[in-house]
Amino acid sequence: SNVGRLHRTAYHFQPKRHWINDPNGPMYYNGVYHLFYQYNPKGAVWGNIVWAHSVSTDLINWTPLDPTIFPSKPFDKYGCWSGSATVLPGNRPVILYTGIVDQNNTQVQNYAVPANLSDPYLREWVKPDNNPLIVPQAGENKTAFRDPTTAWLGRDGRWRILLGGKRKHRGVAFLYRSRDFLRWTKAKHPLHTAAGTGNWECPDFYPVPKQGSNGLDTSVLGPNVKHVLKVSLDVTRYEYYTLGSYDTDKDRYIPDDTSRDGWNGLRYDYGNFYASKSFFDHSKNRRILWGWANESDTAYDDMTKGWAGIQLIPRVITLDPNGKQLLQWPIPELESLRGENVHLSGQVLKKGDVVEVTGITAAQADVEVTFSFAASSLDLAEQFDPAWKTLDAQDVCGRRGSTVEGGLGPFGLLTLASENLEEYTPVFFRVFKAGYQHVVLMCSDARSSSLMDGLYTPSFAGFVDVDLTDKKLSLRSLIDHSVVESFGARGKTCISSRVYPTLAVSDKAHLYVFNNGTEAVKIETLDAWSMNRPRMN
Ligand code: FRU
Repeated sequence: SNVGRLHRTAYHFQPKRHWINDPNGPMYYNGVYHLFYQYNPKGAVWGNIVWAHSVSTDLINWTPLDPTIFPSKPFDKYGCWSGSATVLPGNRPVILYTGIVDQNNTQVQNYAVPANLSDPYLREWVKPDNNPLIVPQAGENKTAFRDPTTAWLGRDGRWRILLGGKRKHRGVAFLYRSRDFLRWTKAKHPLHTAAGTGNWECPDFYPVPKQGSNGLDTSVLGPNVKHVLKVSLDVTRYEYYTLGSYDTDKDRYIPDDTSRDGWNGLRYDYGNFYASKSFFDHSKNRRILWGWANESDTAYDDMTKGWAGIQLIPRVITLDPNGKQLLQWPIPELESLRGENVHLSGQVLKKGDVVEVTGITAAQADVEVTFSFAASSLDLAEQFDPAWKTLDAQDVCGRRGSTVEGGLGPFGLLTLASENLEEYTPVFFRVFKAGYQHVVLMCSDARSSSLMDGLYTPSFAGFVDVDLTDKKLSLRSLIDHSVVESFGARGKTCISSRVYPTLAVSDKAHLYVFNNGTEAVKIETLDAWSMNRPRMN
């Protein structure tokens, strides 16, 4: 359909057509970034899963190659599911992935290696005959036993990987060890488990430095690092992570008591973001995170569009100096796509003000804004209703939204807005007073995003653990036709929404800054850029 065509993204990762899900095996090898991903070569719904493959030298422009791993052997006859790449000593990449061996979805772990290491794009991979490497043991849950991580090397010279799974309702990160990467032994104790979280998909486990903003190779250990364990929860379709310490003697991971396991844990993204995976980019000493966003329209719409799913913009991961959470920021390479720029500063937004940002392509833009406010406005922030304590951020956003008047906030952006605001996706803050403390809520509320029926339009939201002593709050939004990816307070809280406007499409889309709080807020600075279109597969 015409509208479907208008919802295709311009600078987010997408193949030409058909269904995609998880990013797989991201790696940097000999000057080339590789992204593999779950792909249905036959249609816009999940099925017939292979590993599609694209390459890039800048993570922005992508060249498609033929699918790398596809069902061809008894050990992956019914599907080639998610997995990871590890570059072994001697600069030898190897992929571990989950093979589906029967119609009951029985899962085993396989490996594949490049057929020709001198091919700069590593186009062809072989699946040696000693596959599968790991099969479920008797009594194990054969259909919740998958998604191998990148391997890390212990001080004892053994490689380690995790597999995601469950025991009854307990989520489990199974640990396997190997000296030669071929013979793997299951550790008696999993690396970590958590009651009541259900099946763990796509685990990811890596170190972050306690100081500084570099990333680290997955095998780095020692007193100067913390570890991150992320899992994807298939029951609720969202992910959480914890920060913690890795006890290498016991081979166990212990989350800090500032980041607890469970449904209400810390999230990379409080919106549409799933099955993510990180990798260490040694060319720039950084750890990069890829996440998948599925569609929020109907399967029928997807078939009409002929495509479904995007990968969100890769993010650089660092530890917040407070040590309690991660920070995420779009890779700086994205800025190479910035075109026309509009700059505002010093504008005061009074209650009810809606100011248009003109002069850019509002459907395909990158916007960075910093708001400031008076100290007295903090005192006049609306009270945080103690009854909301039992609610999560999304429910609070659902009750207050972007139009219910507050004290300090709601203020922020109206993205993908139609001229008369029949449609808009507001991305905004509300500041609350809770005793002597302030609670900052960030929302990306899709309820008003489209006049179309049948869409999934949640009021996504997260709290922002930010120090307000400088009386400022910043927001960055990456707007790309049917996705709005937002970063609050320099990446403390991130929210991605998929939205499908009918009026606010291409050059009919507008961008506004708004304030619906009684207290004035000032635009310290706002920069908005039209985004150019990269070479996308
Ligand atoms: C996550 C997931 C993985 C699995 C893959 C199959 O989205 O369910 O657990 O390996 O997708 O496509």
